[in-house]
Amino acid sequence: MLLGNLRVARRVRELGIVSGQNGIYNRYLREKDGWDKHLANTKMLILDAVKQNQPRNICFLGSGYLLDVPVDELLANGFRLTFVDISHPTPILKKYSRNSSINFITEDLTGGLLHNLSSERLRDIIFFKLANLIERAEPFTPDADFVVSLNLLSQLSDIPLEFLRRKGKLTDWQSIELALVIQQKHINSLPKGKSLLVSDVMEEYYNDKGELMATRPTVFADLSGLNQVKEWVWEFDTGKTYLEDAVTKLRVVAGLL
Ligand SMILES: C[S@@+](CC[C@H](N)C(=O)[O-])C[C@H]1O[C@@H](n2cnc3c(N)ncnc32)[C@H](O)[C@@H]1O
Repeated sequence: MLLGNLRVARRVRELGIVSGQNGIYNRYLREKDGWDKHLANTKMLILDAVKQNQPRNICFLGSGYLLDVPVDELLANGFRLTFVDISHPTPILKKYSRNSSINFITEDLTGGLLHNLSSERLRDIIFFKLANLIERAEPFTPDADFVVSLNLLSQLSDIPLEFLRRKGKLTDWQSIELALVIQQKHINSLPKGKSLLVSDVMEEYYNDKGELMATRPTVFADLSGLNQVKEWVWEFDTGKTYLEDAVTKLRVVAGLL
């Protein structure tokens, strides 16, 4: 039992959920100029979508530090907000948990894959078992007038699959195959006619001369169902701390479902 608990605690740390969130916030502080345009685009799309759809309550999936949520404007206009994340940052809980217009839900939006990886022994994890588990997972279905999937889609698959690749449990191709299923299930779980999806879809790596050196797709699922599609570039990392020797930009796609 004790060994089991220690394994879960270590695995949760290795999956890097809390350190990943803090990493996002710290990178935002370092890269504010480049991030502000991306955050402003996301907030504007949320406000536009809300104007079009006239919901009373809005559910945000992957809410994290709320950097990309126009919280003050939404509260000022009387909306009730639900924030869903696998882990809510303490400063956000402290700031909003007493606000009666805000509700926090803690949920693994893969439908339990992270929970499973936390408790399973590494030697028992094999590709076909994982594929089966992911295929049968039932993702959380938000009960709200409007749903925003918020810069979450690529992370949903990256967090578990990067961990498994580092541990030598998946090949690149197996990882892409599983990422596609995890991402497609998330898209399918968003209620149609009342959802907005915002996600990076590609990492681009540039040299000091500003020349594009390489790319890495981050989304493999079918995005052809999106309407009123917008695209932009997120100046993600100019300090070369994400990838050594390269400036990283993210291609972002947003649209209504
Ligand atoms: C890139 S951040 C999105 C930005 C976030 N809205 C912010 O402003 O900080 C992705 C968020 O998705 C959450 N996340 C990643 N995988 C998740 C999962 N399986 N279930 C629920 N939330 C998850 C992370 O904890 C993180 O807060």
